[in-house]
Amino acid sequence: MLLSRATSIRNLKTLPFPIKSLTTTPRFFSSTIPAMGRVSDAVKHDHRELEEQYNNILSATTEDEKTRWQNQFTWELARHSVGEELVVYPAMEKHLSNGKALADKDRKEHAVVKEQLYKFQNLKATDPEFEPTIRALWKDLRQHIKEEEEEDLIALENALKESDSEDLSTSFKRTKMFAPTRSHPNAPDKPPFENVAGLLAAPLDHLKDLFSRFPK
Ligand SMILES: [Fe+2]
Ligand SMILES: [Fe+2]
Repeated sequence: MLLSRATSIRNLKTLPFPIKSLTTTPRFFSSTIPAMGRVSDAVKHDHRELEEQYNNILSATTEDEKTRWQNQFTWELARHSVGEELVVYPAMEKHLSNGKALADKDRKEHAVVKEQLYKFQNLKATDPEFEPTIRALWKDLRQHIKEEEEEDLIALENALKESDSEDLSTSFKRTKMFAPTRSHPNAPDKPPFENVAGLLAAPLDHLKDLFSRFPK
């Protein structure tokens, strides 16, 4: 269902490149994966960035700025979701007695947010639906983030050795490689996905295969 929905989306957007007029500098995709740090720190770091980008979408004063933050937020959320589904949720299933139930709940919440993201990514900043859509998305996402941070991640960290958590963190950060950039020293021969819809519509097995090409 996601695939047909995704392929029907027109005017798919790519990332914003140089953003000069913004007061906050957006984070661009990096080829380096910072070592160490626990997986919960990496996930929470993304959450804070998403929150900042959401606020920037609302506070931007021009259509151009709003659109750039919209694109940045869309990519960050898509990659964050894929990273959790590839790395974090399987770890919960593996290490927690109630992990399967927790992961299933989280995947369902992701599905709801992704539907909203599909809609949001193609809205023009001048569209009357633009702000209500991102506000509704954020309302759901904020609740999901709260549950992840206050329940899931705490339980997961309690079940993990520090070194295992650090390994998961490294794997999670590799999801940053789902970028529409033309060259990447550590990435496969060509960028896996040129647009968010393609990334979100890809079967999880295919995404796993892509990551299997990286060293542990
Ligand atoms: Fe999540
Ligand atoms: Fe998350």
